[in-house]
Amino acid sequence: MRMVDLIEKKRDGHVLTTEEINFIVDGFTNGSIPDYQMSALSMAIFFKGMTEQERADLTMAMVNSGDTIDLADIEGIKVDKHSTGGVGDTTTLVLGPLVAAVDVPVAKMSGRGLGHTGGTIDKLEAIEGFHVEIDNQEFIDLVNKNKIAVIGQSGNLTPADKKLYALRDVTATVDSIPLIASSIMSKKIAAGADAIVLDVKTGAGAFMKSFDDAKELAGAMVRIGNNVGRNTMAVISDMSQPLGYAIGNALEVQEAIDTLQGKGPKDLEELCLVLGSQMVFLAGKAESLEDAREKLIEVMNNGKALEKFKVFLEAQGGDGSIVHDPSKLPQAKYVIEVEAKEDGYVSEIVADEIGTAAMILGAGRATKESEIDLAVGLMLRKKVGDKVAKGESLVTMYTNTEDVEKVKEIIYANMKISKEEVAEPVLVHGVIT
Ligand code: URA
Ligand code: CA
Repeated sequence: MRMVDLIEKKRDGHVLTTEEINFIVDGFTNGSIPDYQMSALSMAIFFKGMTEQERADLTMAMVNSGDTIDLADIEGIKVDKHSTGGVGDTTTLVLGPLVAAVDVPVAKMSGRGLGHTGGTIDKLEAIEGFHVEIDNQEFIDLVNKNKIAVIGQSGNLTPADKKLYALRDVTATVDSIPLIASSIMSKKIAAGADAIVLDVKTGAGAFMKSFDDAKELAGAMVRIGNNVGRNTMAVISDMSQPLGYAIGNALEVQEAIDTLQGKGPKDLEELCLVLGSQMVFLAGKAESLEDAREKLIEVMNNGKALEKFKVFLEAQGGDGSIVHDPSKLPQAKYVIEVEAKEDGYVSEIVADEIGTAAMILGAGRATKESEIDLAVGLMLRKKVGDKVAKGESLVTMYTNTEDVEKVKEIIYANMKISKEEVAEPVLVHGVIT
């Protein structure tokens, strides 16, 4: 087989076979196929697309390019959730304990990463003593015992995807639905998921800005999952404004604690119930999505979800008492209000810009080397559609510096107020089951 012939085949709109896709991914991973040929193929895929079978083959070839996590020793159906990324997205912190409280095993591998706030592990490290440096056996034992544990990313997972994503980034081939869908799905499958729930965000703060693109990506991923034997469902959710109120690490832990008791922001709670219902249903712990939702509401109301969070934290060295006394979380030195300059209705909160404001305060990493300040961040006091009076707080800044003029400016520029009434945005734009 010659790579040049396969590039030509795809360029002319023909379908690659399973053997051909395996040859390409193996060769690219081991270096026998150079970047320039892989770039040409990616561009051909960008223009000609891929069939369902090609997408499934590409996904599994990338899964098999490196290590895979074996969760077979964990009882039950392991359901993983993936979000395409947003601003102040506290769902992972809530969903873990929430679904574990109805006996769905949550074996979560998580990272730190760059962004407006830290990753899930950074957020959890806001809790004194909590650590993810556990070995595989301990991880498996903890999930069997408590139904939930989190471990840091380890192993050489999907090296083909890593290399291809970097190449696509510099060859204008990121925005290809078949390539994005197989990239995301390969990582979830390599991490050991039996079933997958996807939260595809749409709106200004999202990777997929338009609803049509988000829907197409969600559908593509659901079909890949189902075609390779992993039951998959998706939710298309709004990221035109940040989710919930908190954007920051300790602040989001606090928000998760509230939400686990049904006292959190309504949008965050609703999204957790929609995603959580899919997780519980796919894990075989409910008869229907409606039944799953009822079970989740029950554990929010009877304290079991919060108790599960405490047990999980303590099992990994954390101070579980924070669930009843969040004042033990890291506290910022200064609390500064950003007050509305006029009366009206909040008409827009540009999610990614507000996320950047939180990052400048120190809540997230701009580069891999940046240090995170777990205590700082923003609390939105108003969301789109809310009425606001001049002088009322729009946002509270939690900061360790008084030099916040620049952050204030970003907030004013990206939290727009109109004289006319504004409708609350729709949160769940669609579900694919
Ligand atoms: N996120 C991924 O993991 N892969 C892509 O290709 C795009 C976004
Ligand atoms: Ca939030």
